[in-house]
Amino acid sequence: MNNDNKSRREFVKNSSLLAGGLMMSPLFSNANFFSGADETIKVALVGCGGRGTGAAMQALLTKQNVKLVAMADAFRDRIDNCYKTLTRDDGSGGSVKGRVDVPEERKFVGFDAYAKAIAFADVVILTTPPGFRPIHFEEAINKGKHVFMEKPVATDPVGIRRVLEAAEKAKQQKLNVVVGLQRRYQNSYRELFKRKNLIGDITSAQAWWNNDGVWVNKRKYGQTEMEYQMRNWYYFNWLCGDHIVEQHIHNIDVVNWFKDAYPVKAQGMGGRQVRKGKDHGEIFDHHFVEFTYADGSVLNSQCRHIPGTMSRVDELIVGTKGSIKGDAATILDSKGKPIFQFDKKGENNPYQNEHDELFAAIAKGEYKFADAEIGAKSTLTAIMGRMATYSGQMLEWDKILASNLNLQPKKYDWDAAPPILPNDDGYYPVAVPGVTKYV
Ligand SMILES: NC(=O)c1ccc[n+]([C@@H]2O[C@H](COP(=O)([O-])OP(=O)(O)OC[C@H]3O[C@@H](n4cnc5c(N)ncnc54)[C@H](O)[C@@H]3O)[C@@H](O)[C@H]2O)c1
Repeated sequence: MNNDNKSRREFVKNSSLLAGGLMMSPLFSNANFFSGADETIKVALVGCGGRGTGAAMQALLTKQNVKLVAMADAFRDRIDNCYKTLTRDDGSGGSVKGRVDVPEERKFVGFDAYAKAIAFADVVILTTPPGFRPIHFEEAINKGKHVFMEKPVATDPVGIRRVLEAAEKAKQQKLNVVVGLQRRYQNSYRELFKRKNLIGDITSAQAWWNNDGVWVNKRKYGQTEMEYQMRNWYYFNWLCGDHIVEQHIHNIDVVNWFKDAYPVKAQGMGGRQVRKGKDHGEIFDHHFVEFTYADGSVLNSQCRHIPGTMSRVDELIVGTKGSIKGDAATILDSKGKPIFQFDKKGENNPYQNEHDELFAAIAKGEYKFADAEIGAKSTLTAIMGRMATYSGQMLEWDKILASNLNLQPKKYDWDAAPPILPNDDGYYPVAVPGVTKYV
């Protein structure tokens, strides 16, 4: 290591120790700065479900010398399934078995598992349901780690503010943070973005996430209410945020990104037509929101989870001189004539690219990614949309950002009561526009 690298390494190490007020054990990683690709970059995975397994695989498939050294999940069976997939000889996209070094003593289970796993890592992958993201992100940054975290990054405004504070700390410590809003890492969207001036000033937009919906995990005999909600997390707002936050955030974020702004107000309507069962918790199955930006331009956003209806996951951005179609990767002039078409042969796998770019930067000691703030603000946009459809009121960004709405339980414990409970018939209270208050 040359002197430059040595002093830079020490600078970053010392500044993160100071900022985090940490006393690091030599057993744990304290190397948050890498001077060359031959150094091992240690990864901890928090949330070993579907996306966590995929994200870990992608991290381990990067060109850098990456090792998975610790895993954390609320449930043991999720760790076991994930570990099995990652150590398969025929892993999809290539075997990563040789890069998995997670003995029993570095597999952590339960609500406090995250902190134990994070301690061992240089880079942390956060892929639990989004309700936990603020706590986990804050811990990772306080301990001086680089982060890949999935969207959304919270489910309520109190969580958003926690993420924004940690994001600021990450910037000061030069810790790279990538958020899984993967269209920002996708060639077609990046090429459209580069050419957005072709459509002039953006005057309106539409965004869609309409499809059949997602899995349901039915209640099992013997589960506590907390375990049931954790297993069936999509249907509870403290964990999921409703599907406008959980999935439609992708399309809302594209419009925010191209607009380079966040809406100042929102109003909308929504409800549940088919999600009526006991296992459907409290979330809606459709939302339609009109978001207004400071310059008066409007984003009409719709998301629906209803089987048998029209599917569309897409964005349309309209400007004074033309329009951009996100999914088709096309730019049209004001008469509807295509003036740019991205060649889909040049498309990449954005999920892989998120990790390729993140780990390349970390290995080179570069500070390149500060996605937490945009992730938090696009999550807040979607939360504002949910609060607008639940209440039926016109809501303002500043008030939502300052809101004390906190959906989290007072205590994380298998026997503790979650913040929402079923009635005697097993059904959960559902928002009623005009009645439900937005705070
Ligand atoms: N960017 C994308 O396209 C994309 C795609 C899929 C999922 N995601 C995101 O990834 C996240 C996870 O989704 P998923 O589909 O993998 O869900 P999942 O249910 O398959 O996995 C979540 C895992 O987190 C675990 N978990 C829950 N609470 C925990 C806690 N407190 N500590 C540790 N582990 C905990 C669960 O037991 C589970 O194993 C969500 O935020 C989702 O939006 C993003």
